[in-house]
Amino acid sequence: MSELRFDGKVAIVTGAGHGLGRSHALELGRRGAKVVVNDLGGALDGSGASTTPAAEVTELIAKEGGEAIADAHDVATPEGAQALVDAAIERFGRVDIVVNNAGILRDKSFGKMSVEEFDAVLAVHVRGSYLVSRAAWPHMKEQGYGRVLMTSSPAGLFGNFGQANYSTAKMGLVGLAKTLGIEGAKNGIKANAIAPIAWTRMTESLLPAEFESKFTPERVTALVTYLVHESCETSGEVFSVGGGRVARVFVAEGPGFRQDDLTPEAVRDNWDAILAETPYLTPTTLGQQAGASMKAML
Ligand code: NAI
Repeated sequence: MSELRFDGKVAIVTGAGHGLGRSHALELGRRGAKVVVNDLGGALDGSGASTTPAAEVTELIAKEGGEAIADAHDVATPEGAQALVDAAIERFGRVDIVVNNAGILRDKSFGKMSVEEFDAVLAVHVRGSYLVSRAAWPHMKEQGYGRVLMTSSPAGLFGNFGQANYSTAKMGLVGLAKTLGIEGAKNGIKANAIAPIAWTRMTESLLPAEFESKFTPERVTALVTYLVHESCETSGEVFSVGGGRVARVFVAEGPGFRQDDLTPEAVRDNWDAILAETPYLTPTTLGQQAGASMKAML
């Protein structure tokens, strides 16, 4: 089988100074993409900044024979996101791929979480992914080609204690990927999301020690590399990935229960039918979901 190559393509990877983003950037560089290695260089909670992590990964790519530039802008600000995309255009003339990966944590149980802790996490994950994708969008539309990737999380898809801010942000990214997938279709732009698990500074204190050798960032990067390749036709989908396993995660709707004169009592009395999971639908647009409700009336 032929190798997936990225010659002539330009990729922006946010938060590429450490962990998953570093692994994605190195792999895209190895496979011929010109890479913009973005990283603010702060701590896990988003405090501080440093140009070193992005510069180190950029050097590594060059050492391996690839081409990359470092960028230390904050993706959570409109100016930072714009400057990041401008840097790609100035240096490489185009932007084909945006891997939205930058992220921070401010874990607290819901009752103890401050508004600032909630907002700070949404700012990096949701606003950051939105702002960088927004700045790249006109270039992708003009060239009739683009690949956008969102980094969601099992915490967003399924919930996790102590991560109200983070799960809100990560589920938000699923909605963003789905809508960009729909809106990008006519311009050759595909957007998808991943929900990874990997041993990084974000998870090393949470995961059992034996995960280090099994849940490597590289095992997530394999999926990311395919999703942002031109041969991947899939769009608007979400995949969980970790330790070498990849699975589609889909939002499904059960068969449901319907009656014209729906009353609270009818809801109560048919609760089991309402909770039933099969046969389920997997609408890929709001229209498809509404169509199913219409069909139930016939
Ligand atoms: P990490 O902490 O090693 O990497 C995140 C990177 O983002 C850091 O290098 C950090 O400096 C950078 N960053 C943070 N705020 C930034 C900003 N405003 N602008 C630019 N760069 C910024 O963590 P890891 O694990 O590699 O996480 C990568 C992504 O994967 C994150 O979005 C995270 O939420 C997500 N994720 C990771 C999981 C895991 O198991 N490691 C699980 C689920 C999701």
